[in-house]
Amino acid sequence: MCAVENLPPRPGLQRMSDPVPDADDLPPARPALARALEARYGLLAASAGSLSCGDALGAAAPLPGETVIDLGCGRGGDVLRAAALVGPTGLAVGVDGNEAMLTKAREATAGTPGAWFVQGDLAAVPLPAARADVLISSCAVNHAPDKAAVYREIHRLLRPGGRFAVADVVSEQALPDEVRSDPAAWAACYGGAIPEREYLEAIARAGFSDVRVVRRTAPYERGGVRVLSITVVGTR
Ligand SMILES: C[S@@+](CC[C@H](N)C(=O)[O-])C[C@H]1O[C@@H](n2cnc3c(N)ncnc32)[C@H](O)[C@@H]1O
Repeated sequence: MCAVENLPPRPGLQRMSDPVPDADDLPPARPALARALEARYGLLAASAGSLSCGDALGAAAPLPGETVIDLGCGRGGDVLRAAALVGPTGLAVGVDGNEAMLTKAREATAGTPGAWFVQGDLAAVPLPAARADVLISSCAVNHAPDKAAVYREIHRLLRPGGRFAVADVVSEQALPDEVRSDPAAWAACYGGAIPEREYLEAIARAGFSDVRVVRRTAPYERGGVRVLSITVVGTR
């Protein structure tokens, strides 16, 4: 699960400077990472446990009439809540790469006006540019080998003046090679974590302003490494 805050370490779960690199230099091979994500989230789609970290939706505080995109929406809980906040004149769009997650999300929001879903990659979203007022994401960007590319995509999707709020997992230190190259560790929401400073620099380089961390957990252990979750906001 990615609801890692305040949970005790689970050793059985072991299994993703300047200048900031655009992509992790030792990610698992893309097909292996895709298989690990598919296996993990195909199963978790049927579970009821929380997959979130931080409070992206609360930090974004969507208003009536706004258009919200949730990147890596999972089973659609935040899309459902966002649809209620934006009301009948707004729109809440969930994006996820996992078909089983999207099926669950569509079931969860059936009959909710203004909630809909598209399948896509975090760094290549099949939606038009500059239409969203708000972009949220919870515990998904850590899975992407190229965080900077994801933030460039977030920048593309938001209208000028639009805002994002992303909750995600970062690491205390650069992770050891054996973790950074382990697809199962990436799928389990810690192998792809990069140090917070690098993460924030990638956001700034995508062109955002007013970038701030509004929530930060205490560091905790996953798979023998120290990570934490942050909720970060910024404006296009
Ligand atoms: C930890 S879950 C979080 C789900 C949801 N945001 C929540 O808080 O409950 C991560 C989600 O990101 C999706 N995901 C991971 N990597 C992705 C990628 N490269 N493209 C699209 N979705 C991805 C997974 O399918 C999964 O649904």
